[in-house]
Amino acid sequence: MSDRRNVTPNDLSAFWMPFTANRQFKKAPRMFVAAKDMHYTTSDGRKVLDGTAGLWCVNAGHSRPRIVQAIAEQAAEMDYAPAFQMGHPKAFELANALVSIAPQGLNHVLYTNSGSESVETALKVALAYHRVKGEGARFRLIGRERGYHGVNFGGISVGGIVTNRKMFGTLLTGVDHMPHTHTPGANQFTRGERETGGDLATELERIVTLHDASTIAAVIVEPVAGSTGVLIPPKGYLQKLRDITRKHGILLIFDEVITGFGRVGTPFAADYFGVTPDIMVTAKGLTNGTIPMGAVLVTSEIHDAFMQGPEHVIEFMHGYTYSGNPVASAAGLATLETYKEEGLLTRGAELAGYWEDALHSLKGLPHVIDIRNLGLIGAVELEPIAGSPTKRAFSAFVKAFEQGILIRTTGDIIAMSPPLIISKAQIDELIGTLASILKTLE
Ligand SMILES: Cc1ncc(COP(=O)(O)O)c(C=O)c1O
Repeated sequence: MSDRRNVTPNDLSAFWMPFTANRQFKKAPRMFVAAKDMHYTTSDGRKVLDGTAGLWCVNAGHSRPRIVQAIAEQAAEMDYAPAFQMGHPKAFELANALVSIAPQGLNHVLYTNSGSESVETALKVALAYHRVKGEGARFRLIGRERGYHGVNFGGISVGGIVTNRKMFGTLLTGVDHMPHTHTPGANQFTRGERETGGDLATELERIVTLHDASTIAAVIVEPVAGSTGVLIPPKGYLQKLRDITRKHGILLIFDEVITGFGRVGTPFAADYFGVTPDIMVTAKGLTNGTIPMGAVLVTSEIHDAFMQGPEHVIEFMHGYTYSGNPVASAAGLATLETYKEEGLLTRGAELAGYWEDALHSLKGLPHVIDIRNLGLIGAVELEPIAGSPTKRAFSAFVKAFEQGILIRTTGDIIAMSPPLIISKAQIDELIGTLASILKTLE
């Protein structure tokens, strides 16, 4: 046993926190101890309005009874079943439920435990698919600048985040990137999708010409880039990507880790844009943030291509100990039931106009240089402090927490994505509090 004698109760040093300014946090910790519906409770007993659905995952609001009960009952009935060569009913039930709400044609589900693992799974399926079809020369993966696809090596390779590219070595080879779609200038303060810029998709044609289509396995994009500051695709852009990939036999992967499960007012962003990918990557909202779980949906064409050879042989050498874990599956089923019962997969569409007006009312406040929105996603971009990028937005984040709202910042961009149960009065509270904070920022 480890020697615990030197560990003081509540010592904060052992936990090296993820994506956190650890030294700053540990000097002035921000702790949540409880959550219900739209609110967190802090360790000093204050209520904080959740403007970010946790981390874009608690779409039905917090600690929902049906989900809590399903998790408790499943843990008591059967905690775990081996994921390989064995099954349990709820993993199959959940896969069926997912397929029933997914865009038509995405008929098969592979489970993971996170968005990052879903991305890796999707990329591996794409590479192996071409291989089993006898087109193993298709080894290239195409991502996009400013893309975020989680933290694992495949995801950071196809992603376009500069710090990852700087910190973690050579990454995957055979990867190229399209330009991102964020072209400020004439487009600031656009409501929803902007009219111009769809032609940026033709950059993919240039890349295909450069590498030759016969070497390219897949293109991966977030329909709406979230983590690099909410970048809404220009009108027609995603359809063009679909047309080009289809023309060249390249698979199109949508990373719907944040856009899935009602975030843009439709079950998935693929529905909103009317563009169906070959592979769809999900996680987060799948279990309403309760139990780690992701799911990758693929077409029958992809699935069926693997179902060949002797039947006793494993068709795809991939999976996780916790793929389709019983407790996660129970949480997923109860989550989808909650979404259905309360109409949450489309509620964002009803609130989108109100949300958009509220957000754009911040135009003209100090430091605000752009506002972007789609469905129940919103971003307010601030002018960085000269020589101290990120500081202004971070100070807004800390003030927001102190004044009872949870927002999220990435660079100098404030991003918001509240639970889909938010009321109009709560939208007013969220945006009103943010407005007063923006007026006080240095
Ligand atoms: C588009 C996208 N893909 C992948 C991920 C990674 O998900 P996770 O943190 O669950 O690994 C995220 C997380 O924010 C994301 O936004």
